[in-house]
Amino acid sequence: MKALILSGGKGSRLYPLTYTNAKQLIPVANKPVLFRVIEAIHDAGIDDMGIVIGSGENGRKVRAAVGDGGRWGVKITYIVQDEPKGLAHAVLIARDYLSDDRFVMFLGDNVIEGGISDLIREFETSDYNSQIVLTRVAEPKHYGVAELNPDGSIKQLVEKPRQPKSDLALVGIYMFDEHVHEAVRSIKPSWRGELEITDAIQWLVDAGYHVHPYIHRGWWIDTGKPIDMLAANSKVLEELTPRIDGFVDKDSEVDERVTVEPGAQIINSVVRGPTIIGENTRIINSYVGPFTSIYHDCLIEDAEIEHCIMLEHSQISDVDARITDSLIGRNVVISRSELKPRALKLTIGDNSRVGLI
Ligand code: DAU
Repeated sequence: MKALILSGGKGSRLYPLTYTNAKQLIPVANKPVLFRVIEAIHDAGIDDMGIVIGSGENGRKVRAAVGDGGRWGVKITYIVQDEPKGLAHAVLIARDYLSDDRFVMFLGDNVIEGGISDLIREFETSDYNSQIVLTRVAEPKHYGVAELNPDGSIKQLVEKPRQPKSDLALVGIYMFDEHVHEAVRSIKPSWRGELEITDAIQWLVDAGYHVHPYIHRGWWIDTGKPIDMLAANSKVLEELTPRIDGFVDKDSEVDERVTVEPGAQIINSVVRGPTIIGENTRIINSYVGPFTSIYHDCLIEDAEIEHCIMLEHSQISDVDARITDSLIGRNVVISRSELKPRALKLTIGDNSRVGLI
Protein backbone atom coordinates (compact mmCIF):
# COMPACT_ATOMS: atom_id res chain seq x y z
CA MET A 1 0.00 0.00 0.00
CA LYS A 2 0.97 3.62 -0.49
CA ALA A 3 0.06 6.74 1.47
CA LEU A 4 -1.02 10.16 0.23
CA ILE A 5 -0.57 12.94 2.78
CA LEU A 6 -2.26 16.26 2.14
CA SER A 7 -0.14 19.18 3.21
CA GLY A 8 -1.27 21.96 0.89
CA GLY A 9 -3.98 24.49 1.64
CA LYS A 10 -3.72 27.95 3.16
CA GLY A 11 -4.38 27.36 6.86
CA SER A 12 -6.20 30.69 7.01
CA ARG A 13 -7.96 29.83 10.28
CA LEU A 14 -4.53 29.75 11.93
CA TYR A 15 -3.42 33.20 10.76
CA PRO A 16 -1.04 34.88 11.60
CA LEU A 17 1.05 31.76 12.38
CA THR A 18 0.42 30.34 8.92
CA TYR A 19 1.53 33.47 7.04
CA THR A 20 5.07 32.31 7.62
CA ASN A 21 4.69 28.58 8.15
CA ALA A 22 2.67 25.66 6.82
CA LYS A 23 -0.03 24.73 9.34
CA GLN A 24 1.04 21.10 9.19
CA LEU A 25 4.47 22.14 10.52
CA ILE A 26 3.13 23.72 13.70
CA PRO A 27 4.26 21.48 16.54
CA VAL A 28 1.97 19.65 18.93
CA ALA A 29 3.88 18.55 22.04
CA ASN A 30 7.01 19.86 20.31
CA LYS A 31 6.67 17.78 17.15
CA PRO A 32 5.10 19.05 13.90
CA VAL A 33 1.69 17.51 13.25
CA LEU A 34 2.92 16.37 9.82
CA PHE A 35 5.78 14.40 11.44
CA ARG A 36 3.22 12.67 13.67
CA VAL A 37 1.23 11.75 10.55
CA ILE A 38 4.33 10.31 8.83
CA GLU A 39 5.17 8.29 11.96
CA ALA A 40 1.61 6.93 12.26
CA ILE A 41 1.72 5.75 8.63
CA HIS A 42 5.21 4.26 9.06
CA ASP A 43 4.05 2.45 12.23
CA ALA A 44 1.23 0.94 10.17
CA GLY A 45 3.86 -0.61 7.87
CA ILE A 46 3.65 1.79 4.90
CA ASP A 47 6.93 3.35 3.77
CA ASP A 48 6.05 4.73 0.34
CA MET A 49 4.43 8.13 0.85
CA GLY A 50 3.39 10.96 -1.46
CA ILE A 51 2.98 14.42 0.05
CA VAL A 52 0.78 16.98 -1.70
CA ILE A 53 2.21 20.46 -1.16
CA GLY A 54 1.34 23.94 -2.36
CA SER A 55 3.43 25.63 -5.05
CA GLY A 56 4.41 28.58 -2.81
CA GLU A 57 6.57 29.22 0.22
CA ASN A 58 4.67 26.81 2.49
CA GLY A 59 5.30 23.96 0.09
CA ARG A 60 9.01 24.76 0.11
CA LYS A 61 8.97 24.77 3.92
CA VAL A 62 7.36 21.33 4.05
CA ARG A 63 9.96 20.01 1.59
CA ALA A 64 12.80 21.49 3.65
CA ALA A 65 11.44 20.09 6.93
CA VAL A 66 10.61 16.55 5.73
CA GLY A 67 13.31 16.09 3.07
CA ASP A 68 13.52 12.67 1.43
CA GLY A 69 12.08 10.89 4.49
CA GLY A 70 15.41 9.24 5.32
CA ARG A 71 15.08 10.27 8.96
CA TRP A 72 12.13 7.86 9.29
CA GLY A 73 13.41 5.30 6.81
CA VAL A 74 10.58 6.08 4.37
CA LYS A 75 10.48 7.21 0.73
CA ILE A 76 8.79 10.56 0.09
CA THR A 77 7.53 11.76 -3.30
CA TYR A 78 6.30 15.36 -3.52
CA ILE A 79 3.27 16.25 -5.60
CA VAL A 80 2.80 19.98 -6.20
CA GLN A 81 -0.76 21.35 -6.26
CA ASP A 82 -0.94 24.77 -7.94
CA GLU A 83 -4.01 25.86 -5.92
CA PRO A 84 -5.94 24.24 -3.05
CA LYS A 85 -8.74 23.02 -5.31
CA GLY A 86 -9.97 20.33 -2.94
CA LEU A 87 -9.11 16.98 -1.43
CA ALA A 88 -10.38 15.08 -4.47
CA HIS A 89 -8.28 17.36 -6.71
CA ALA A 90 -5.23 16.25 -4.70
CA VAL A 91 -6.06 12.62 -5.60
CA LEU A 92 -6.55 13.65 -9.23
CA ILE A 93 -3.07 15.15 -9.53
CA ALA A 94 -1.48 12.24 -7.65
CA ARG A 95 -2.67 9.73 -10.29
CA ASP A 96 0.80 8.91 -11.67
CA TYR A 97 2.30 8.51 -8.23
CA LEU A 98 -0.54 6.33 -6.92
CA SER A 99 -0.81 4.18 -10.06
CA ASP A 100 -3.41 1.42 -9.42
CA ASP A 101 -2.20 0.73 -5.87
CA ARG A 102 -4.41 0.70 -2.81
CA PHE A 103 -3.61 3.69 -0.60
CA VAL A 104 -4.45 5.57 2.56
CA MET A 105 -5.07 9.29 2.29
CA PHE A 106 -4.28 11.16 5.50
CA LEU A 107 -4.92 14.88 6.01
CA GLY A 108 -1.68 16.42 7.25
CA ASP A 109 -3.41 18.43 9.98
CA ASN A 110 -5.26 15.54 11.67
CA VAL A 111 -4.17 13.94 14.93
CA ILE A 112 -5.78 10.64 15.98
CA GLU A 113 -5.52 8.55 19.12
CA GLY A 114 -3.93 5.15 18.80
CA GLY A 115 -2.50 5.50 15.28
CA ILE A 116 -3.85 3.78 12.14
CA SER A 117 -2.32 0.29 12.23
CA ASP A 118 -5.64 -1.47 12.97
CA LEU A 119 -7.42 0.48 10.28
CA ILE A 120 -4.80 -0.35 7.65
CA ARG A 121 -4.79 -4.03 8.62
CA GLU A 122 -8.57 -4.21 8.28
CA PHE A 123 -8.51 -2.56 4.85
CA GLU A 124 -5.55 -4.60 3.56
CA THR A 125 -7.16 -7.90 4.45
CA SER A 126 -10.60 -6.97 3.10
CA ASP A 127 -12.18 -6.69 -0.32
CA TYR A 128 -13.49 -3.20 0.43
CA ASN A 129 -13.04 -0.70 -2.39
CA SER A 130 -12.80 2.04 0.19
CA GLN A 131 -12.83 2.46 3.93
CA ILE A 132 -13.75 5.72 5.66
CA VAL A 133 -13.38 6.63 9.30
CA LEU A 134 -16.28 8.19 11.20
CA THR A 135 -16.49 9.58 14.69
CA ARG A 136 -19.20 11.26 16.76
CA VAL A 137 -18.75 15.04 17.12
CA ALA A 138 -20.64 17.83 18.85
CA GLU A 139 -20.83 20.13 15.81
CA PRO A 140 -21.08 17.99 12.68
CA LYS A 141 -21.85 20.94 10.38
CA HIS A 142 -18.12 21.78 10.29
CA TYR A 143 -17.22 18.42 8.72
CA GLY A 144 -18.22 15.90 6.11
CA VAL A 145 -21.17 14.04 7.65
CA ALA A 146 -22.32 10.45 7.12
CA GLU A 147 -25.83 9.11 7.39
CA LEU A 148 -25.93 5.34 7.84
CA ASN A 149 -28.62 2.77 7.00
CA PRO A 150 -30.04 0.61 9.81
CA ASP A 151 -27.66 -2.21 8.73
CA GLY A 152 -24.66 0.13 9.23
CA SER A 153 -23.94 0.70 5.54
CA ILE A 154 -23.58 4.23 4.13
CA LYS A 155 -26.76 5.96 3.04
CA GLN A 156 -25.42 9.42 2.27
CA LEU A 157 -22.36 11.61 2.71
CA VAL A 158 -22.62 15.40 2.70
CA GLU A 159 -19.80 17.94 3.03
CA LYS A 160 -20.44 20.53 5.79
CA PRO A 161 -24.25 20.28 5.72
CA ARG A 162 -26.28 23.15 7.19
CA GLN A 163 -28.63 20.61 8.75
CA PRO A 164 -26.64 17.47 9.48
CA LYS A 165 -28.58 14.21 9.41
CA SER A 166 -26.28 12.61 12.01
CA ASP A 167 -23.41 13.43 14.37
CA LEU A 168 -20.99 11.13 12.52
CA ALA A 169 -18.17 13.21 11.04
CA LEU A 170 -15.70 12.04 8.42
CA VAL A 171 -12.24 11.85 9.98
CA GLY A 172 -9.46 12.93 7.61
CA ILE A 173 -8.23 9.37 6.98
CA TYR A 174 -9.51 7.50 3.94
CA MET A 175 -8.56 4.26 2.22
CA PHE A 176 -9.12 3.59 -1.47
CA ASP A 177 -8.46 1.18 -4.30
CA GLU A 178 -8.03 2.24 -7.94
CA HIS A 179 -11.75 2.96 -8.46
CA VAL A 180 -11.40 6.30 -6.70
CA HIS A 181 -9.62 7.67 -9.78
CA GLU A 182 -12.76 7.37 -11.88
CA ALA A 183 -14.73 8.95 -9.02
CA VAL A 184 -12.50 12.06 -8.76
CA ARG A 185 -12.63 12.48 -12.53
CA SER A 186 -16.44 12.27 -12.53
CA ILE A 187 -17.46 14.75 -9.84
CA LYS A 188 -17.97 18.53 -10.21
CA PRO A 189 -16.69 21.30 -7.89
CA SER A 190 -18.89 22.05 -4.86
CA TRP A 191 -20.47 25.38 -3.85
CA ARG A 192 -17.10 26.33 -2.30
CA GLY A 193 -15.39 25.66 -5.63
CA GLU A 194 -13.52 22.55 -4.44
CA LEU A 195 -13.51 18.98 -5.68
CA GLU A 196 -14.72 17.32 -2.49
CA ILE A 197 -13.49 13.88 -1.49
CA THR A 198 -16.87 13.46 0.25
CA ASP A 199 -18.56 13.71 -3.19
CA ALA A 200 -16.08 11.23 -4.68
CA ILE A 201 -16.89 8.71 -1.95
CA GLN A 202 -20.63 9.28 -2.51
CA TRP A 203 -19.97 8.57 -6.20
CA LEU A 204 -18.35 5.23 -5.21
CA VAL A 205 -21.37 4.37 -3.04
CA ASP A 206 -23.81 5.28 -5.83
CA ALA A 207 -21.82 3.23 -8.33
CA GLY A 208 -22.23 0.17 -6.10
CA TYR A 209 -18.67 -0.07 -4.80
CA HIS A 210 -18.13 -1.36 -1.26
CA VAL A 211 -17.30 1.60 0.99
CA HIS A 212 -16.89 0.43 4.57
CA PRO A 213 -17.50 2.87 7.44
CA TYR A 214 -15.21 2.33 10.42
CA ILE A 215 -16.36 4.00 13.63
CA HIS A 216 -13.46 5.44 15.61
CA ARG A 217 -14.10 5.64 19.36
CA GLY A 218 -10.95 7.36 20.66
CA TRP A 219 -10.19 11.05 20.31
CA TRP A 220 -9.47 12.72 16.99
CA ILE A 221 -8.65 16.35 16.33
CA ASP A 222 -8.54 18.37 13.11
CA THR A 223 -6.06 21.10 14.08
CA GLY A 224 -7.67 23.73 11.86
CA LYS A 225 -8.21 26.41 14.52
CA PRO A 226 -6.10 27.66 17.47
CA ILE A 227 -8.47 26.10 20.00
CA ASP A 228 -8.11 22.72 18.22
CA MET A 229 -4.33 23.09 18.18
CA LEU A 230 -4.37 23.55 21.98
CA ALA A 231 -6.76 20.61 22.41
CA ALA A 232 -4.52 18.34 20.31
CA ASN A 233 -1.49 19.55 22.26
CA SER A 234 -3.17 18.62 25.56
CA LYS A 235 -4.18 15.15 24.35
CA VAL A 236 -0.73 14.33 22.97
CA LEU A 237 1.03 15.68 26.08
CA GLU A 238 -1.04 13.29 28.18
CA GLU A 239 0.26 10.38 26.09
CA LEU A 240 3.96 11.30 26.28
CA THR A 241 6.28 9.24 28.41
CA PRO A 242 8.01 11.95 30.46
CA ARG A 243 11.80 12.18 30.70
CA ILE A 244 14.22 14.69 32.15
CA ASP A 245 17.18 15.09 29.77
CA GLY A 246 17.92 18.71 30.68
CA PHE A 247 18.99 20.43 33.89
CA VAL A 248 16.70 21.11 36.86
CA ASP A 249 18.23 23.02 39.74
CA LYS A 250 17.57 22.18 43.39
CA ASP A 251 15.33 25.20 43.93
CA SER A 252 12.86 24.09 41.25
CA GLU A 253 9.82 21.89 41.55
CA VAL A 254 9.17 19.76 38.46
CA ASP A 255 6.53 17.05 38.68
CA GLU A 256 6.67 13.54 37.19
CA ARG A 257 4.57 14.43 34.14
CA VAL A 258 7.08 16.93 32.76
CA THR A 259 9.48 16.28 29.87
CA VAL A 260 12.64 18.39 29.85
CA GLU A 261 14.56 18.04 26.57
CA PRO A 262 18.37 18.08 26.27
CA GLY A 263 20.06 21.39 26.97
CA ALA A 264 16.96 22.87 28.65
CA GLN A 265 17.40 24.52 32.06
CA ILE A 266 14.83 24.96 34.82
CA ILE A 267 16.07 27.43 37.42
CA ASN A 268 14.16 28.38 40.58
CA SER A 269 10.84 27.58 38.90
CA VAL A 270 7.73 25.45 39.25
CA VAL A 271 6.74 23.26 36.27
CA ARG A 272 3.58 21.16 36.40
CA GLY A 273 2.80 18.53 33.77
CA PRO A 274 1.77 17.30 31.41
CA THR A 275 4.17 19.75 29.87
CA ILE A 276 7.21 19.70 27.61
CA ILE A 277 10.17 22.07 27.73
CA GLY A 278 12.16 22.08 24.46
CA GLU A 279 15.87 21.86 23.76
CA ASN A 280 17.99 24.75 25.04
CA THR A 281 14.99 26.54 26.49
CA ARG A 282 15.47 28.30 29.84
CA ILE A 283 12.79 28.68 32.49
CA ILE A 284 13.97 31.09 35.19
CA ASN A 285 12.03 32.28 38.29
CA SER A 286 8.82 31.25 36.56
CA TYR A 287 5.77 29.03 36.66
CA VAL A 288 4.86 26.73 33.75
CA GLY A 289 1.50 25.06 34.23
CA PRO A 290 -0.16 21.94 32.78
CA PHE A 291 -0.80 21.39 29.06
CA THR A 292 2.01 23.66 27.92
CA SER A 293 4.53 23.01 25.14
CA ILE A 294 7.50 25.34 24.98
CA TYR A 295 9.56 24.66 21.85
CA HIS A 296 13.33 24.95 21.54
CA ASP A 297 15.54 27.97 22.32
CA CYS A 298 12.92 29.92 24.27
CA LEU A 299 13.27 31.96 27.45
CA ILE A 300 10.67 32.38 30.17
CA GLU A 301 11.88 34.57 32.98
CA ASP A 302 9.85 36.05 35.84
CA ALA A 303 6.62 35.01 34.15
CA GLU A 304 3.75 32.52 34.36
CA ILE A 305 2.32 30.47 31.50
CA GLU A 306 -0.21 27.65 31.29
CA HIS A 307 -2.14 25.72 28.60
CA CYS A 308 -0.15 27.28 25.75
CA ILE A 309 1.94 26.42 22.73
CA MET A 310 5.03 28.59 22.36
CA LEU A 311 7.20 28.25 19.27
CA GLU A 312 10.95 28.45 18.92
CA HIS A 313 13.20 31.40 19.78
CA SER A 314 10.50 33.28 21.65
CA GLN A 315 10.71 34.90 25.04
CA ILE A 316 8.45 36.09 27.83
CA SER A 317 10.03 38.11 30.60
CA ASP A 318 8.94 40.14 33.59
CA VAL A 319 5.21 39.87 32.96
CA ASP A 320 2.81 40.01 35.93
CA ALA A 321 -0.29 38.49 34.36
CA ARG A 322 -0.36 34.73 33.80
CA ILE A 323 -0.51 33.88 30.08
CA THR A 324 -2.99 31.08 29.32
CA ASP A 325 -4.82 29.47 26.38
CA SER A 326 -2.43 31.07 23.90
CA LEU A 327 -0.55 30.22 20.73
CA ILE A 328 2.70 32.16 20.59
CA GLY A 329 4.64 32.20 17.32
CA ARG A 330 8.36 32.20 16.56
CA ASN A 331 10.81 34.94 17.58
CA VAL A 332 8.13 36.61 19.67
CA VAL A 333 9.11 38.90 22.56
CA ILE A 334 6.61 39.59 25.34
CA SER A 335 8.09 41.77 28.06
CA ARG A 336 7.49 44.66 30.42
CA SER A 337 8.41 48.02 28.95
CA GLU A 338 9.93 50.74 31.10
CA LEU A 339 9.24 53.41 28.47
CA LYS A 340 6.60 56.03 29.28
CA PRO A 341 3.66 56.22 28.89
CA ARG A 342 2.66 53.14 30.89
CA ALA A 343 0.58 51.42 28.23
CA LEU A 344 0.24 48.24 26.19
CA LYS A 345 2.67 48.43 23.26
CA LEU A 346 1.96 45.88 20.58
CA THR A 347 3.61 44.94 17.31
CA ILE A 348 1.44 42.08 16.12
CA GLY A 349 0.74 40.54 12.73
CA ASP A 350 -2.41 40.73 10.64
CA ASN A 351 -5.34 38.64 11.93
CA SER A 352 -3.81 38.30 15.41
CA ARG A 353 -6.01 37.93 18.49
CA VAL A 354 -5.06 39.54 21.82
CA GLY A 355 -7.18 38.99 24.93
CA LEU A 356 -6.63 41.74 27.53
CA ILE A 357 -7.59 41.58 31.21
O1 DAU B 1 -10.64 17.05 9.08
C1 DAU B 1 -11.73 16.34 8.59
C2 DAU B 1 -12.45 17.10 7.49
O2 DAU B 1 -11.46 17.42 6.49
C3 DAU B 1 -13.58 16.24 6.89
O3 DAU B 1 -14.63 16.03 7.83
C4 DAU B 1 -14.16 16.92 5.66
O4 DAU B 1 -15.11 16.09 5.06
C5 DAU B 1 -13.04 17.23 4.66
O5 DAU B 1 -13.53 17.94 3.53
C6 DAU B 1 -11.95 18.06 5.32
O6 DAU B 1 -12.51 19.34 5.65
P1 DAU B 1 -11.66 20.66 5.94
O7 DAU B 1 -12.45 21.84 5.48
O8 DAU B 1 -11.22 20.62 7.36
O9 DAU B 1 -10.39 20.49 5.02
P2 DAU B 1 -9.19 21.52 4.86
O10 DAU B 1 -9.50 22.51 3.79
O11 DAU B 1 -8.81 22.03 6.22
O12 DAU B 1 -8.03 20.60 4.32
C7 DAU B 1 -7.58 19.45 5.00
C8 DAU B 1 -6.10 19.22 4.73
O13 DAU B 1 -5.83 19.02 3.35
C9 DAU B 1 -5.20 20.35 5.17
O14 DAU B 1 -4.01 19.77 5.75
C10 DAU B 1 -4.84 21.08 3.90
C11 DAU B 1 -4.89 19.99 2.86
N1 DAU B 1 -5.39 20.42 1.54
C12 DAU B 1 -6.62 21.01 1.45
C13 DAU B 1 -7.14 21.38 0.23
C14 DAU B 1 -8.51 22.00 0.12
C15 DAU B 1 -4.62 20.21 0.41
O15 DAU B 1 -3.50 19.66 0.51
N2 DAU B 1 -5.12 20.58 -0.80
C16 DAU B 1 -6.35 21.16 -0.96
O16 DAU B 1 -6.76 21.47 -2.11
